Amino acid sequence: MKRILLVFMAAFLLVSLSACGNHAQEEAKETQTAAEEQKETAESTKAAEPETVQDEMTQPETETAGEASSSETAAEQESEASAEHSDVLIAYFSATGTTKGVAEKIASVTGGDLYEILAAEPYTSDDLNYNDSSSRTTTEQNDKSVRPEIGSGDISLEGYKTVYLGFPIWWGEEPRILDIFVEKYSFEGITVIPFCTSGGSGIGHSGPNMEALAGSGTWLEGQRFGGNVSEADLQSWIEELQ
Ligand SMILES: Cc1cc2nc3c(=O)[nH]c(=O)nc-3n(C[C@H](O)[C@H](O)[C@H](O)COP(=O)(O)O)c2cc1C
Repeated sequence: MKRILLVFMAAFLLVSLSACGNHAQEEAKETQTAAEEQKETAESTKAAEPETVQDEMTQPETETAGEASSSETAAEQESEASAEHSDVLIAYFSATGTTKGVAEKIASVTGGDLYEILAAEPYTSDDLNYNDSSSRTTTEQNDKSVRPEIGSGDISLEGYKTVYLGFPIWWGEEPRILDIFVEKYSFEGITVIPFCTSGGSGIGHSGPNMEALAGSGTWLEGQRFGGNVSEADLQSWIEELQ
């Protein structure tokens, strides 16, 4: 009987130990799973963190890129503006084509842009008759307040640093249409260089007359040319102005 009891107890102990072992295994398994889950979470958090930092770091970069692109745009605009036109303009009025020819030679020498000041009401040969004391030009030149309307489209002087201003001499000075032209525009920051053609008279007071009417710009002393002046002579004159 004692032996049976001992065998029974031994069997019970074995079963209990094996149950404990299973339980410990399960616990270890659970702990392992929890640890793995924790590791995964930690890894995923770790993986997420740099993105956030990157985002934060990317932000200023993006702003810098934005700033760069806006400054690039400004530079592009500037280069586009200068590509559009030279910083030299040759603006001229010419009733019979002589001053126009000189203006074109100055444009050829300087690479400047040409702008023709046209009268809204073109001058006819009768208008230009200086032997007629009642002709349009004689009347206009006798009255300094006359302002013949300009017929050519407006021009923006923005971007121009030098403006050559050409005209024929009428009764010793600039035609009245030049007066309205210089009054119309601001020559602020621009060097204005008057030039004229004539039958022989000099430029006279035309430059100072226009400078006073314009009220802005740096006006250089003007120069009279014959219609047949060469580009080489114009080049020398321009170089002497520098
Ligand atoms: C109304 C009028 C007045 C002129 N007065 C003078 C003058 O005082 N002195 C002079 O030398 N030439 C005078 N001229 C000649 C012009 O200045 C000259 O022919 C000029 O080169 C014409 O330039 P354009 O062809 O560009 O109009 C006059 C011409 C006209 C039509």
